[in-house]
Amino acid sequence: MKPSILIIEDEKTVRISLKDALTSEGYSVHGVETGAEGIAALHNCSFTVIITDVRLPDVGGMTILQEASSSCQDTPVIVMTAYGSIEDAVTAMRRGAYDYITKPFNLDELLLLVQRAVELREIKDENSRLRKEIHKRFQFPDVIGESPAMQEIFRLIDKVSPTDTSILLQGESGTGKELIASTIHYQSLRKDRPIIRVNCASLPESLIESELFGYEKGAFTGATARKPGRFELADTGTIFLDEIGDLPLAVQTKLLRVLQEQTFERLGGTKTIKVDVRVITATNKELNKEVKNGNFRQDLFYRLNVVPITLPPLRQRREDIPLLIKALTTKFNDQLGTRVTFSDEAIQDLVKYDFPGNVRELQNIIERMLILAEDGTIKRNDLPKHIRKLKSETTPLATLAEVAAEAENSHIRKILQVTGGNKSKAAEILGVSRKTLWEKISSRNIDL
Ligand SMILES: Nc1ncnc2c1ncn2[C@@H]1O[C@H](COP(=O)(O)OP(=O)(O)OP(=O)(O)O)[C@@H](O)[C@H]1O
Ligand SMILES: [Mg+2]
Repeated sequence: MKPSILIIEDEKTVRISLKDALTSEGYSVHGVETGAEGIAALHNCSFTVIITDVRLPDVGGMTILQEASSSCQDTPVIVMTAYGSIEDAVTAMRRGAYDYITKPFNLDELLLLVQRAVELREIKDENSRLRKEIHKRFQFPDVIGESPAMQEIFRLIDKVSPTDTSILLQGESGTGKELIASTIHYQSLRKDRPIIRVNCASLPESLIESELFGYEKGAFTGATARKPGRFELADTGTIFLDEIGDLPLAVQTKLLRVLQEQTFERLGGTKTIKVDVRVITATNKELNKEVKNGNFRQDLFYRLNVVPITLPPLRQRREDIPLLIKALTTKFNDQLGTRVTFSDEAIQDLVKYDFPGNVRELQNIIERMLILAEDGTIKRNDLPKHIRKLKSETTPLATLAEVAAEAENSHIRKILQVTGGNKSKAAEILGVSRKTLWEKISSRNIDL
């Protein structure tokens, strides 16, 4: 894209000659006559450089300078001052002008100034792009992944973290649901408050309700003292309800009320307790199917599913596998005091493997390999059998034409063997002319 220049100059002859000169230098130029038009034009910050006269009939150049430095910080502004008014130049520089030029000026001098301003702007843009990238990369240090699918997840996390929205994390086992839940909490305004995790599948139905909402003394046999529930413990923080698909229907009703009103009663209690809790849930079941089958309340599903985040299985983002191997190897090497690395071949095999257990499975493989490693490098043959054996089954990336040619070559070879090297006979059997056969043999280097 061409650099674009905004000229704000009321004197028509100056404006036109500047515009012509800059246009012929390859810039895209927009010229306006008044300060007001200038300010309106710079509002979406689409200009690379701004050139403004300091004395305009309506809004002065200093005001334009101020507007530009507050709304388009990275846009260099060149101020044109009248001959003899050095104070204007000084004021402009103090207020953040990139440079000034005194009228009447030499066009070449101005063009040079513009060129330097454009270069400065490009450097600034590149810097801010790099800064953003570094920020992105280190924003969630525990979550590894650069694939488009993971970047989309990062974008979502960025958006939802500062809000109190309920989040439903879905994805196969080991895709990182728990990791993302805690990442969201630690990116949120509640980060200094607790995140309380409840696994809805590991608690028996009779216990889950009292776990979540607590009980009063004497609520049931064995309730010898009052106990606060996890929702109370999570007050002003986050509750992470893992395996939400396994929550019994009776408890679902109570949870729905907490989500709607942020209130509940302890078991055996009458006092209504009010809490301020952000709810993040996760499941590897397809919750909408559970709704259809009558195992999960539809209204609760809608409440939880305000922002759904579905984590992609590892086999759908294979480009992240080498990255994960590297990071996890470093992590386990540090923990184990080892210095083992994976050979490129071993990494290639792992990239081809489907990882039904996703990142958790990869993590386990790496840890085990590091513990078992005989020397410093893990080679293809050191990998578990079920991963290694994939080697022969993998499909090379070839075009249809290449595959067809390979098949033809092998068939030609066979037929030539059958005919004892007699090409006329072979051509007859193959249904091609001798010439065609000869061409194929010589052009493809078929060894006979
Ligand atoms: N993108 C990732 N980067 C680094 N580590 C990851 C990533 N995703 C998952 N992990 C690691 O893999 C392991 C499994 O992740 P996690 O427990 O979050 O998965 P899950 O989706 O909750 O699985 P399950 O459904 O079985 O409970 C964890 O040790 C986690 O730290
Ligand atoms: Mg989990």
